[in-house]
Amino acid sequence: MNQRGGFGDSFVVDPPVSRGDVLPITTTVGESTAKRTLEKIWEHVLGEDFRKIGVYGMGGIGKTTVMKQINNCLLKETDRFDNVIWVTVSKASKVFELQNDIARNLDLDLSKYEDVTLRAGKLNIALENRKRYVLILDDMWEAFCLEDVGIPEPTPTNGCKLVLTTRNVEVCNMMSCENIKMELLSKEESWNLFLETLGRDVLNTPDLEATVKEVVKECACLPLAIITIARSLKNVVHASEWRNALEDLRTSINGSNNRATTVFKSLQFSYKRLKDEKLQHCLLYCALYPEDYQIDRDELIEHLIDEGVIKRMKSRQVEFDKGHTMLNKLENACLLEGGSYKEDESRDNKPTCFHVYQSVRLCSAKQFDWVISL
Ligand SMILES: Nc1ncnc2c1ncn2[C@@H]1O[C@H](COP(=O)(O)OP(=O)(O)OP(=O)(O)O)[C@@H](O)[C@H]1O
Ligand SMILES: [Mg+2]
Repeated sequence: MNQRGGFGDSFVVDPPVSRGDVLPITTTVGESTAKRTLEKIWEHVLGEDFRKIGVYGMGGIGKTTVMKQINNCLLKETDRFDNVIWVTVSKASKVFELQNDIARNLDLDLSKYEDVTLRAGKLNIALENRKRYVLILDDMWEAFCLEDVGIPEPTPTNGCKLVLTTRNVEVCNMMSCENIKMELLSKEESWNLFLETLGRDVLNTPDLEATVKEVVKECACLPLAIITIARSLKNVVHASEWRNALEDLRTSINGSNNRATTVFKSLQFSYKRLKDEKLQHCLLYCALYPEDYQIDRDELIEHLIDEGVIKRMKSRQVEFDKGHTMLNKLENACLLEGGSYKEDESRDNKPTCFHVYQSVRLCSAKQFDWVISL
């Protein structure tokens, strides 16, 4: 390096600086669903209209998967940004831990600084040195004030972008993001992903078809469920074993050999994070409705009042307001899917119905653990 700037006999060149880490990715299925979301995020990241983007959806729906693809595309397909910084946020993150999570990815040592404001200053400088960057914060459970953490506000002038993923849209809203919702796979995509993961054509055996279809239905169009359950069934061959596996999926979640444990644990985490007994009761109550049932909000709130989940207050209106607030919270946490209309309803009004995601319904309705944990 002593030759640098001297133009001596040999010309010394600095090794290329890495702009970020290419991450190992899953090949996604879902030509339409997953690709549509990927394209939308890509447009938002490259476009000038939005600086902060929030990708939200229920646990196991594919947020991390799609963001890893975006991370790699940013490194390979555009020189628009100088750096791509990927941060997996620790689950119990407070400002201090989030600073550590980000610093680790910047090779910045904050360990000798205890004071969060001082740490924020150090982080701010380190991030500014990365010039035009995309900061990806994967798996956020709380909203943060960027200034408190030490993240410079992304602006057209600094050319930076922030993309976060979360299971709760409230996190996106509180951080003033432009929101992008991840959708479940379609039935056909679920079927294809299941067969692809299984790695063989089970439909060669005609008496298996109906059972396999029922097994895929239990996965409720959720990629995590499809992948984990299909993997666990790779060695299952005989029709009786398939029937046994189906029964196992339908009846129990606990037990060492259970196939749905991963999915259950993932969704149970969302349930526990509600941190409100009444909200948890409300969700369990909703989960008792049959599959795909369009639950009428007002009718349900009446029941919740009668059952004591919503306590009596000074007026019916106040009780109903409480009920709607609770349902909105569950919808924001991606445990209920809202926004549907009754058949005879005009689309000009606010939607009055919702339904429980099938995977949530399956986990909660048969899970006494959830009730016991209240
Ligand atoms: N479209 C898809 N095609 C194939 N596999 C997928 C798809 N989407 C997700 N997966 C797989 O499903 C699993 C769960 O996905 P992922 O971890 O991205 O979910 P997530 O939304 O980030 O969940 P969490 O909220 O728990 O962080 C992973 O094993 C991933 O590889
Ligand atoms: Mg994730």
